[in-house]
Amino acid sequence: MALISRFTFVALASLGAHVAHSLNIPNGPFRIPIPVKDDFTTVTTSITSDQRPVSVDIDVKRATSFLQTALDAEGMTYDGDIGDAATRLVRYDGCNNFDANEIYKGWVQSWKIMNQVLSEADNINWNEASAVEYLGPPGVNGGIHDSIRDIFKKWATIQPGYVTTPFDWRIHVRCDDPSKRCGDACSKDPKLRGPYAYTTNRDEESGLARINFCPLYFGTFNLKDAIDYGNDPQMDPTWRYDVSNYLMSKAHVWAHELMHIRWVTNSHIYGPNDNVTDIRMWANLVGIGAGVVRAYGPQPVKGLARYGKDGGSWVMRNADSLALYALVRYIQSQLGNVYPHLPLAPAAPSNAWDPSNPESDSVGTLSADAASRTGWKLYNNGSVGLPPIDTFASLSHDPRCPGAFPLGTTSMSFGDFIDEETELDPAYAIEFDTFVTADKLDQGYVDQLNGWYSDLYKANQCVVPSGCINMDPKGCDIACT
Ligand SMILES: *[C@@H]1O[C@H](CO)[C@@H](O)[C@H](O)[C@H]1NC(C)=O
Ligand SMILES: *[C@@H]1O[C@H](CO)[C@@H](O)[C@H](O)[C@H]1NC(C)=O
Repeated sequence: MALISRFTFVALASLGAHVAHSLNIPNGPFRIPIPVKDDFTTVTTSITSDQRPVSVDIDVKRATSFLQTALDAEGMTYDGDIGDAATRLVRYDGCNNFDANEIYKGWVQSWKIMNQVLSEADNINWNEASAVEYLGPPGVNGGIHDSIRDIFKKWATIQPGYVTTPFDWRIHVRCDDPSKRCGDACSKDPKLRGPYAYTTNRDEESGLARINFCPLYFGTFNLKDAIDYGNDPQMDPTWRYDVSNYLMSKAHVWAHELMHIRWVTNSHIYGPNDNVTDIRMWANLVGIGAGVVRAYGPQPVKGLARYGKDGGSWVMRNADSLALYALVRYIQSQLGNVYPHLPLAPAAPSNAWDPSNPESDSVGTLSADAASRTGWKLYNNGSVGLPPIDTFASLSHDPRCPGAFPLGTTSMSFGDFIDEETELDPAYAIEFDTFVTADKLDQGYVDQLNGWYSDLYKANQCVVPSGCINMDPKGCDIACT
């Protein structure tokens, strides 16, 4: 047996601090190759929920071919020890070669998102729309900036280029649905479609942190394809700057699920941060009644960022708030540094967008398609109005299942991702009834948001015949081929 490392919790905690403060070099200096004997070897890791060492048998050759295929598909190269990198993921129970390839592809793609946020973590501009809309207004969430930075830095360095010997992590990946949570990807009932993936910090069989990938995951697209599509000059800006169109990539599923692993985010026994889970928002939904919405996807996440209680601290406990912020920063970097502002953030109650103005009543005057790009309506009385679901691409829309939802209906994100440990924990549910008002938002940002709402209304009035496109995001300039 090749013993790679056996570290105590004390050593691990101090390494965590080291990683947070100084790991800006892409190549961990202490990487050592795994001893290979006939392609098969055994590794032992103590990065487990109870710090008890776990040994796993690995097939280095097979793992390497999965990683190499994934890198090739992305046009990426890996300049470290590829056998060491590839065997960070272990076991693949119930995954065939296709499944394993898709899992490695999503993993590799998620590094791009992580590297983007890592390069920016020390210089986040908290007044920029991306930070305000996903992480909360700086006048509210100032107390959690350091924690958010620490989570991002730790999360972003859990990728092979940053592996240092003592931090010898392994992630167990599975496709065989051990908790029986996967569903029917094309069910008409969103609740029966099951999640894309689900995660536990302790798999019953292996003792390792584990992610299970469900059928829905294997229908997600590659991040690069969406970016290429968005950069096509023929693409309507309404498509290009809508985060919903980039959302359900394999990269994002990975980015999200990794947030649930406690040693990835310096949480629980590993460091000072709170567990990063999926926050449940209990809300009084206009026309629906009391209901619970899980905070994933841009609209719910932008809603959560306006939650007025507890100094904005719920965003740092919510995986999609953090993973989506990172994704959006990456998308922006790929779209000529233009912020993808759709779907819109909620107008702040009181004076950011006047609810008594009939023009601002999106459901009344916008097409269902345009209305699906507006934000949640946060009313002064604590109620929430949900926009209709995005008719083209939403968190709940699987391209392989057309018509799974009637156009223009309202849907609530339900079980797309699961953190098995905290799924039902009341500590991660909030009464979503108190919202940041416009006076707490920077006036420059409010003007920007109002401008985006106006653009949406103007674009809505522009009729674009089929086969034609509107060349002017702020008005109407039809071009037909
Ligand atoms: C964090 O998650 C772990 C399981 O991963 C759980 O045991 C612990 O109680 C959670 N901590 C809090 C504060 O909820
Ligand atoms: C809150 O205000 C909205 C908008 O006026 C209204 O539709 C909703 O019914 C109100 N909710 C309650 C509980 O009064």
